[in-house]
Amino acid sequence: MYRVAVIKGDGIGPEVVDSAIRVVNSVTDRIRFYEFEGGFEVFKRIGSPISEDDLKEIRKMDAILFGATTTPFNVPGYRSLIVTLRKELDLYANLRIIPDLSNGKEIVIVRENTEGLYARDGIGFSDRAIDFRIITLEGARRIAKFAINLAKERNSFITFVHKANVLKGDRFFREIVLEIAEREGVEVREAIIDSFMIKLVKNPWDHGVILTENMFGDIISDLATIHAGSIGIVPSGNYGDEIALFEPIHGSAPDIAGKGIANPIGAILSAAMMLDYLGLNGKVVWEATRRYVRYGNLTPDMGGTATTSEVTKGIISEIYSFD
Ligand code: NAI
Ligand code: MG
Repeated sequence: MYRVAVIKGDGIGPEVVDSAIRVVNSVTDRIRFYEFEGGFEVFKRIGSPISEDDLKEIRKMDAILFGATTTPFNVPGYRSLIVTLRKELDLYANLRIIPDLSNGKEIVIVRENTEGLYARDGIGFSDRAIDFRIITLEGARRIAKFAINLAKERNSFITFVHKANVLKGDRFFREIVLEIAEREGVEVREAIIDSFMIKLVKNPWDHGVILTENMFGDIISDLATIHAGSIGIVPSGNYGDEIALFEPIHGSAPDIAGKGIANPIGAILSAAMMLDYLGLNGKVVWEATRRYVRYGNLTPDMGGTATTSEVTKGIISEIYSFD
């Protein structure tokens, strides 16, 4: 039996996570889910977005399924739950798969999740502010290995996106990527971040596994989602050496929360990535989703009139039609 922590969050978080759980339960009976609370409401009670006791329990699980939480602006001392979890659990590799579900193509992005400009707070003076962009040997090695292994599994290559012509950190990172890739026999193509953005807009599907540091990855991966048709269908995984967390990339979408029309596909495909991580059958979920999208009624963000529940049921009946 696998043990999976579930943090549904708020807004549409609970709506889409419930769909993902229904889909998982239609594929396997080898997962038991344990629900945990977290986010701003918890912060108001205890001064932290998640309790120490819960974190301790979560560390013992096999994986985490996460929905979304609303992060209010301008609350001193509040850091969003997802950022807290990435840091606490050292989830250093952020993998986003941006699918074109109608033809099977994908944009695959591996973003370093713990270093770069987000590794520590900057310092402010009266006449300037300084941020630190940190790339360490260990940090660069582990993310390079992650991306290179993924490229191998997918029979693909790496597109390493950087600004090594200007930034010392990227020159350092580049040496490590090239060395490991050569040893592993994986091809590395290189792209400079600014001109790469044009390629990603014009010709998004041909870049193998895109590997980049934290802030570039943050920006590239949001841009890439426009090719998916809706932000509501894009899944992601945050991987560490001990545990991994799976979540749709969208937020809590307060504008549509409670209406029953949230697109569940991003959460469902995140669960598919989780099944793959656990060594279970995620493929069947991907395939069922692709089939459903070809003829099925979709939610309004994709031009349809379906509810969350109808899309979920549709995907589950595709799963049952396989056996
Ligand atoms: P958002 O992703 O929640 O929404 C952006 C737009 O996309 C909205 O119009 C929304 O209706 C639509 N959308 C998002 N997911 C959808 C889905 N599954 N189906 C159909 N339509 C969908 O981003 P926004 O509005 O910038 O943020 C709202 C809240 O979510 C904020 O408090 C933000 O901090 C939080 N957030 C949380 C994240 C997390 O917990 N991982 C990630 C991103 C934002
Ligand atoms: Mg972002």
